[in-house]
Amino acid sequence: MAEIHVVCAKNRHLYEDVMDDYFHARHQIYIDERKWTELAKPDGREIDQFDGPTTVYIIALEGRRAVGSQRMVPTCGPTLMGDVFPQLAAGRGLIRHPDAFELSRMFVVRDRRGDAAKPGIESLVMAGTMEYGLAEGIRQFTIVMETWWISRFLNMGWKVRPLGLPVDIAGMNCVGVVLDVTMNAWRETLRSRAVEGEVLVWNGLEPPHATSKVA
Ligand code: COA
Repeated sequence: MAEIHVVCAKNRHLYEDVMDDYFHARHQIYIDERKWTELAKPDGREIDQFDGPTTVYIIALEGRRAVGSQRMVPTCGPTLMGDVFPQLAAGRGLIRHPDAFELSRMFVVRDRRGDAAKPGIESLVMAGTMEYGLAEGIRQFTIVMETWWISRFLNMGWKVRPLGLPVDIAGMNCVGVVLDVTMNAWRETLRSRAVEGEVLVWNGLEPPHATSKVA
């Protein structure tokens, strides 16, 4: 089973090889596969303005290979919704507070998708994301996403609420949402996705990170 690691500025020196693989994987997925060609980079590493010192990565590792991930940034800094797609929050307004983080770049590499072996990588990353939120006292996640995610999130207990009407962005039907980080959402994620409990590896991180507030 993949291990689900927390990587942030404090322990990134332990993951430089992984991060290189991770940014290459993003390029393959978002530029080569999804054809978001405006993100293309000459060195084949998809890095943008939201990959900074305050960014946290939940990375699924098989050995040292990054096979899936979720990215999180604090909403008090630059965010995709605030800086690039503010029209998605035109209804209820942008969320910017210290205990709200924005999720983005959720992916699983092509050859590891699907739930052939339960729990699948996507399920482990989602469970790890909610676990991280609870452990770090995050109250809300915001997301810029395509609308096809809505039923997937609702089915695993993530009660997403729209911040505005859906908007067509480059042919994709997108919506800005917010959801609460709750013990119930975490438990429902585990139940619906056959994940047995805590999944996060806090390698090289000092308390309070290493202190599980989840159990
Ligand atoms: N549009 C519509 N539905 C999509 C989709 C897309 N672009 N990508 C995935 N899905 C749906 C699949 O059709 C499938 O539905 P089904 O279960 O009813 O058959 C379901 O999501 C599962 O997708 P799958 O790719 O088989 O497996 P997964 O659960 O392991 O991974 C993703 C899901 C989204 C993580 C994976 O497809 C992926 O990494 N995609 C590329 C990255 C991406 O687009 N991320 C979202 C934007 S950040």
